[in-house]
Amino acid sequence: MSGSHDSHDSTASAASTASAASATSAASTASAASTDSTAPVALVTGGNRGIGREVCRQLAGLDHIVLLTARSLKAAEKAAAELGTSVVPVQLDVTCEDDRQRVAREVRDRFGRLDVLVNNAAIAYDTWQCAVSADLDVVREAAETNLYGPWRLTQTLLPLLRASRRGRVVNVSSGAASLADMGAGTPAYATTKVALNALTRMLAAELRADGILVNSVCPGWVDTDMGGPGGRPVADGAAGVVWAATLPGGGPTGGFFRDGVRVEW
Ligand SMILES: NC(=O)c1ccc[n+]([C@@H]2O[C@H](COP(=O)([O-])OP(=O)(O)OC[C@H]3O[C@@H](n4cnc5c(N)ncnc54)[C@H](OP(=O)(O)O)[C@@H]3O)[C@@H](O)[C@H]2O)c1
Repeated sequence: MSGSHDSHDSTASAASTASAASATSAASTASAASTDSTAPVALVTGGNRGIGREVCRQLAGLDHIVLLTARSLKAAEKAAAELGTSVVPVQLDVTCEDDRQRVAREVRDRFGRLDVLVNNAAIAYDTWQCAVSADLDVVREAAETNLYGPWRLTQTLLPLLRASRRGRVVNVSSGAASLADMGAGTPAYATTKVALNALTRMLAAELRADGILVNSVCPGWVDTDMGGPGGRPVADGAAGVVWAATLPGGGPTGGFFRDGVRVEW
């Protein structure tokens, strides 16, 4: 995504449809990988590269069973194979209802619960656009992945998150969504991440009684395909996401964090 780097957070950082065969393959891999029935089960979207992949790596290092999901099963398998036997490749395009339903069935049948959901996948850091002239088709397309995808996925997986005694939802957001710091540009990306932050607030309030903690996390400016060169190491950006994914009971909910520190909405 050349010329479209989410470097919005650089200032803050410096200052501070799978085929049936594919589905079966993922399910059987899950069976092989999950020998410890007490290990937390985490699902990460967009886990094949960038921050998502590193979040998978770090959660696996913290003894989670990690469902590394990606649009392409091949990409998920390749990434998971590099991360160890507790990382399970699963095909999931967050914009696809059939995928979301299949993944929910697989998780239910194999684990009966989901402890951590990391809504990481995102597109369209539209540095080429301004709000005054924005192509709203681009905005709508961004919303399908950045807002409706995580929203619908969370709804679909909610019974499994409720079945966990330690449900955590992390919506990977951006400083570009901070209204306190809002200026011109990146209209598709910024508006969809603002809406994702609003979703965080509502879900947190509605799920508090279930003990499910829901937070937005800005990873800072990170050196990925989206962030581009010059950002901080992917391990640093992912660490703040993992922090929110592994909060203890009674931890914060409905917040917006970078590196475990609150940032302004
Ligand atoms: N990098 C930064 O500086 C920065 C700063 C602030 C916030 N963030 C946020 O951090 C998160 C990760 O960013 P990144 O830098 O790692 O981005 P990235 O390198 O561009 O990776 C994006 C990931 O999302 C996946 N994805 C896109 N559309 C999808 C869909 N419909 N279903 C499933 N997966 C989909 C991509 O899969 P494919 O490989 O199939 O395309 C890829 O795995 C995003 O939410 C981003 O907004 C990043």
